[in-house]
Amino acid sequence: MDETKVVLSDHEIPRQWYNIQADLPTPLPPPLHPGTGQPVGPEDLAPIFPMNIIAQDVSQERWIDIPDEVLGKYLLWRPSPLYRARNFEKLLGCPVKIYFKHEGLSPAGSHKPNAAIPMAYYNREFGIKRLTTETGAGQWGSALAMACQMFGLACRVYMVRVSFEQKPYRRMLMNTWGAECIPSPSSLTVSGRDFLAAHPDSPGSLGVAISEAVEDAVTSENTRYSLGSVLNHVLMYQTIIGLEAEKQLEKIGVYPDVVLGCAGGGSNFAGVSFPFVRDKIHGKDVRIVAAEPTSCPSITRAPYAYDFGDLARKTPLLAMHTLGHDFVPAPIHAGGLRYHGMAPLVSHVVRLGLAEARAYNQLETFDAGVKWARSEGYVPAPETNHVIAAVVDEARRAKEEGKEKVILFNWSGHGLIDLTAYDAYLSGKLTQYELPEEEIERAIRTTSAFPKP
Ligand SMILES: Cc1ncc(COP(=O)(O)O)c(C=O)c1O
Repeated sequence: MDETKVVLSDHEIPRQWYNIQADLPTPLPPPLHPGTGQPVGPEDLAPIFPMNIIAQDVSQERWIDIPDEVLGKYLLWRPSPLYRARNFEKLLGCPVKIYFKHEGLSPAGSHKPNAAIPMAYYNREFGIKRLTTETGAGQWGSALAMACQMFGLACRVYMVRVSFEQKPYRRMLMNTWGAECIPSPSSLTVSGRDFLAAHPDSPGSLGVAISEAVEDAVTSENTRYSLGSVLNHVLMYQTIIGLEAEKQLEKIGVYPDVVLGCAGGGSNFAGVSFPFVRDKIHGKDVRIVAAEPTSCPSITRAPYAYDFGDLARKTPLLAMHTLGHDFVPAPIHAGGLRYHGMAPLVSHVVRLGLAEARAYNQLETFDAGVKWARSEGYVPAPETNHVIAAVVDEARRAKEEGKEKVILFNWSGHGLIDLTAYDAYLSGKLTQYELPEEEIERAIRTTSAFPKP
């Protein structure tokens, strides 16, 4: 019988992350200073991030060594198994082999610790004592809470209010790992207070929570900010997923026809796919697909422009697909996909024609997720349901085309703390959000004041 899972031993874990910047056919447009319109220098970012992380963000080295202390923590659950989803394949009845990286087996339940652990480590190395961050669904906040505990740092997490209310167990998890968790918008920061004054009943957004966390970091001693997605270094830390998958598929003599991930800020999608994008740049025939929500369709519908990463315009301008930094997405249950922008590297790779994207609505994603849970057992996070919906799509296309296909995707996290979302779906209370065209026109207007990438 063929394997259902392919495992690597501890000593087969990759020792380096992959930096796609070294292989891009055209370089990434640089982040700009909003005041001068000029590329930002390391000193502009120094109040927000430690210099060792800034250096990695702009590095053009193809391979970056993973420090031993980071590897030691990764080994708590990595290398993650590569599974073959035989039961789901059978349910779909299409000519496909479906492989997935199970990132739900980390202590925090998602791929997020892959980036949280190096971030806490590099901050501690730089002498930082406290980190602030934002979180949507709570996956990133809980991952950073755990990583800060591992490296002896204090941690405060600003959690988007709608998720704070929908997901109390994530807050409890952050508290268990020793972090503070504050619902955002909060009255602790100027950005939060200003936003609350204008929108007292706001469900919050990642854009506001980022403003609060950045403001807290730059106004507090020995504190820096950590972003859970979007930035180049975060995407690079996540490539451990795709690098392991390459080794695992090689062991069984398989190469994927298509590689997929769901995309909120872009980190798990980049993590699983960038090593394969590298192959594609060098001539390999492989398709790369990102799945995003129809309520927050940055890649599929939003303009590509320079825009801020946060609501209060505290970050540099980034070249990315963006719905506008003041966009407040509908309160869908996939909190981690409610971000107005898409990682500059992911946006760039899509523009170069190296990857494509598709959007799925909340009901079709939960339909796919429930089918998954009823066949494969594991209950996916609402974010992960988006990529499963895309996998269903791919499988059906293969059947229509009469072609056999190998699918690889990243199963980004489990949904055991998201059961209220499943309850809402199963009792028919979930709403299907489509973004009206006026919102896209508004995004174009919002970003028209900034230089063109
Ligand atoms: C389980 C899970 N998947 C996906 C995402 C989306 O984030 P990213 O696009 O950075 O991978 C999140 C974000 O919170 C998440 O928790």
